[in-house]
Amino acid sequence: MKEPIGIFDSGIGGLTVLKEILKILPYENIIYLGDTARVPYGIRSHETILKYSYANADFLMNQRIKLLVIACNTASSVSTEKLKERCKIPVIEVITPGAKSASEITENGKIGVIGTEATVRSGTYLRAIKKLNPQLRVYLKACPLFVPLVEEGWTEEDNEVSLMVADKYLHELRDKEIDTLVLGCTHYPLLKGVIRKVMGRHIRLIDSAQETAKEIMKILQERNLMNEGQKKGSLQFFVTDDPERFKTMGYRFLEIEIENVTRVETIR
Ligand code: DGL
Repeated sequence: MKEPIGIFDSGIGGLTVLKEILKILPYENIIYLGDTARVPYGIRSHETILKYSYANADFLMNQRIKLLVIACNTASSVSTEKLKERCKIPVIEVITPGAKSASEITENGKIGVIGTEATVRSGTYLRAIKKLNPQLRVYLKACPLFVPLVEEGWTEEDNEVSLMVADKYLHELRDKEIDTLVLGCTHYPLLKGVIRKVMGRHIRLIDSAQETAKEIMKILQERNLMNEGQKKGSLQFFVTDDPERFKTMGYRFLEIEIENVTRVETIR
């Protein structure tokens, strides 16, 4: 099917998910919506996140997409059930694939999950992991400063400020002797080096973006929704704030030049 895949995120973070999708599904046409006027979602209330998620999904549904990806962990934690009821197409979120992979990989049964305040507060990761295996022990920690650190570009593994912040947030997970850590936020894969340095090289980091891309491929195959063409797919971006900022910031996440960005209003 030629119809596009629709992806939304609160801003640029979802580009980590898009990057993984492009690696394994190069022939798909894709529309990405970044709600850059309302980012960050991670500090907002359940009701507000739900309202924004509806607006994003409705916008993409109007573009006649064949599958919806909620690339934002915060939006996924809060709005997945409602969006599945609202949209008559497959809806893929980023929580379950990461939870599944963590539950399969852990050896000592102790899993850490880090994310935004709203993601941690929702308890969605906890429920998802416990549903897969009630014996597993799950330790959650909100790391709100990680998002601005990544957006500032302070991601090198020897960045003193990022290391200090990471140590402050993560020392309690280290003390719990977790062997697996779910990076439950779009931005955190960019801090892998810093996190590994703080947690120790033995730690298994679960990148939700990679797991989600595999899940999307599986659903497209199972439901016969793959684009059969052998031509590189089209890539179209919509943002709710300044396209220029999205292009420059987004390059760091996607590592390819971002073109074709249009500014839109999703909430009137
Ligand atoms: N995209 C968000 C997430 O994955 C992080 C940024 C935000 O708070 O909006 O949770």
